[in-house]
Amino acid sequence: MDKKIVFSGVQPSGALTIGNYIGAIKRWATLQDEYNCYYCVVDQHAITVPQKAKDLRKNTLDILALLMACGIDHEKSTLFIQSHVPEHSELAWVLNTITYMGQLNRMTQFKDKSKRSEENLNSALFTYPVLMAADILLYKTNLVPVGEDQKQHLELARDLAERFNNRYSDTFMVPEPLIGEFGARIMSLQDPNSKMSKSDSDENGYILLLDDKNTIRRKIKRAVTDSIGEVSYNDDQPGIKNLLNIYSSFSGETIETIVEKYEGRGYGDFKKDLEEIVVDGLSPIQEKFNALRSDKAYLEEIYRKGSEKASDEARKMLRKVYKKVGFIPR
Ligand code: TYM
Repeated sequence: MDKKIVFSGVQPSGALTIGNYIGAIKRWATLQDEYNCYYCVVDQHAITVPQKAKDLRKNTLDILALLMACGIDHEKSTLFIQSHVPEHSELAWVLNTITYMGQLNRMTQFKDKSKRSEENLNSALFTYPVLMAADILLYKTNLVPVGEDQKQHLELARDLAERFNNRYSDTFMVPEPLIGEFGARIMSLQDPNSKMSKSDSDENGYILLLDDKNTIRRKIKRAVTDSIGEVSYNDDQPGIKNLLNIYSSFSGETIETIVEKYEGRGYGDFKKDLEEIVVDGLSPIQEKFNALRSDKAYLEEIYRKGSEKASDEARKMLRKVYKKVGFIPR
């Protein structure tokens, strides 16, 4: 039987946070044996906010190397760069024609982003979820492993697949989100009511996968907690709850075990151990990253091969779509 298909993407807009890692990328690696996985560095999504060309080029290769350092194996999975497979934006155009403005208006991420950068309200920021739907639908994707913040975008992709299938006949697979029970929404270390994000203006709010040891320790030390003083997993202690999710993800221990371990002990001990767990968890990733990133020719070979494989599938699907909408074949 054919393996089910997994697709996911990450933007090359700066370094990745442990939120990206815990919510998505760490889980990508675990799916590679059971599924046919496509993992994509979505550079076309990244330009919906202003980017310097030089930085975008650097970040794209950084992310590619970082994904490999996090365990994505290019022999098992198709690892590629979005702009190398033009079918993504070509399908997005077709999907735009069946997307309602009202649906895009309701996207919370668009609303948040547009509040933050009112001077750059470009139309690509608005239609971004349509490109994301195209990414997913091109590959007959069954499952999309993402963090909680992408759920609404996934619903749009499902909706567009169904609408197209109803209008033109069965074409797309309707994808399911794969969202973890814990860690699907890692929060800012400075404000546990908002999502950890690399675009946070306060760098103490996030830990980057490439932060050095002392920076990691400092950020955890400074993480906001509460005055209750008890390591416990509940919504009245959002700071500690968040740190518990991070602890559990890096140590592999259940929340219950960790809470028991720190019973009757203060936050000091808990944070000190967490510092070491995160440092130890990230250092092998950083070592692998440094080795991979210095070999540009190797990275080039990998993204070339990846886009060739992805293109084969993408081309077939786009041809089908073009035929259904009535375009004359070349
Ligand atoms: P991006 O680049 O913002 O984030 C990549 C992945 O990391 C997850 N994530 C988090 N998970 C838990 N806690 C957090 N604080 C946190 N921050 C980020 C995101 O949910 C995501 O899974 N639009 C997407 C990229 C994309 C995509 C796709 C994803 C483009 N096309 C097709 C899946 C399928 C994005 O901006 O993710």
